[in-house]
Amino acid sequence: MAETRDVVIFDTTLRDGEQAPGFSMRVDEKIRMARELERLGVDIIEAGFPIASEADAEAVRLVATEVRRPVIAGLSRCATADIDCAGIALKPAARPRIHTFIATSDLHLERKLRITREACVEAAVDAVRRARQYTDDVQFSAEDATRSEADFLCLVVERVIDAGATTVNLPDTVGYSTPDEIEAFFRAIIERVPNAHRALFSTHCHDDLGLAVANSLAAVRAGVSQIECTINGIGERAGNASLEEIVMVSRVRPDRAAFRTRIDTREIYAASQLLQAVTGEPVQANKAIVGRNAFAHEAGIHQDGVLKDRRTYEIMRPEDVGVPRMTLVLGKHSGRHAVQRRCEELGFQLTRFEVDRVYRQMIALADRTKSVSDADLAAIVSVVRQDVPALRPGTLLAKARPGPRIVRVPRRDAPAAPELGYGHGV
Ligand code: KIV
Ligand code: ZN
Repeated sequence: MAETRDVVIFDTTLRDGEQAPGFSMRVDEKIRMARELERLGVDIIEAGFPIASEADAEAVRLVATEVRRPVIAGLSRCATADIDCAGIALKPAARPRIHTFIATSDLHLERKLRITREACVEAAVDAVRRARQYTDDVQFSAEDATRSEADFLCLVVERVIDAGATTVNLPDTVGYSTPDEIEAFFRAIIERVPNAHRALFSTHCHDDLGLAVANSLAAVRAGVSQIECTINGIGERAGNASLEEIVMVSRVRPDRAAFRTRIDTREIYAASQLLQAVTGEPVQANKAIVGRNAFAHEAGIHQDGVLKDRRTYEIMRPEDVGVPRMTLVLGKHSGRHAVQRRCEELGFQLTRFEVDRVYRQMIALADRTKSVSDADLAAIVSVVRQDVPALRPGTLLAKARPGPRIVRVPRRDAPAAPELGYGHGV
């Protein structure tokens, strides 16, 4: 088994994440998020891009003032005004980092920046030197690094390290690389740059092909010791590598991903929920680790297995990532065992006969609705216990637990809930 290394988590939820359409945050929201990131245990919080706007500069300044344990980073282009703005915003920080970047691919140099390679090297070196006047902790990023010509990229990296960069980040800016490629890429750069040992290397992968997490893990295999990522994987276009996925791979599969982070995984769910609340952007139901179905089991065979031994269908415990409890979603694929367990959790001890009848009625309801809520189940139990022969369409029920309520069973020819209100939204 490979030796376990420590890897630094650089969280860019408040910068790369925040700059994606629909994800902008107010200053007070950024501060709440930054406090949560501190509880989560990230090593570095990239709080914003101070030159971008007054609000961004203010957010960086306030995060730097109020959040004291992690390093606080501010982004800047390789331009004097940007660096000065970042340096000023970061002044209150206990541990400030200036993160300066310039593109190094010929495509970006020729078509976007319209500068020569020589001008690029000069700007990069000048920026790093200027940033060092504000702090000893300077990160340089070669934007579009993975599409840059290797010899030129090696030259830039060598020169910025000489100029005082302490971290060198080589982003897969457009999410174009594959894991085998990224691994070979980092191995080559680290081996070829003569002063590589004087800096820490970092990976920053975008998810355009859905490979950001796999690429980040591949970079670590090649010797990288900082991973840039975001909560819920938010970020430009398809997003960045998702923090929760990277961290949980290292926890669940230390045999294949031999690195350690300082993340308190029990805070993952809270961080994800807060971000969703602040941005108003929910994650998809099946999102790994934090999606609402990530620990939900509906299929009867799965529910039965999990109830007997959760390891049959769960590779991590929900409580380890802060998810309150295992969710057994009752639906048309559920089995008797799950129905019985949920009834017990709701306080109903059923006979085998009752379980059977409740189960049948639950399935009949689930055929019409996506899932069956606790209130629905309680209503069904009530019906069964009142010995109503069968729950026929149109039957009106009363006094279901918990709390009195009226429930109408949908008619076969009627539209599905919620119009009929069979427990949904109660
Ligand atoms: O994707 C990217 O290249 C970036 C840099 C600014 C680090 O976000
Ligand atoms: Zn990015």
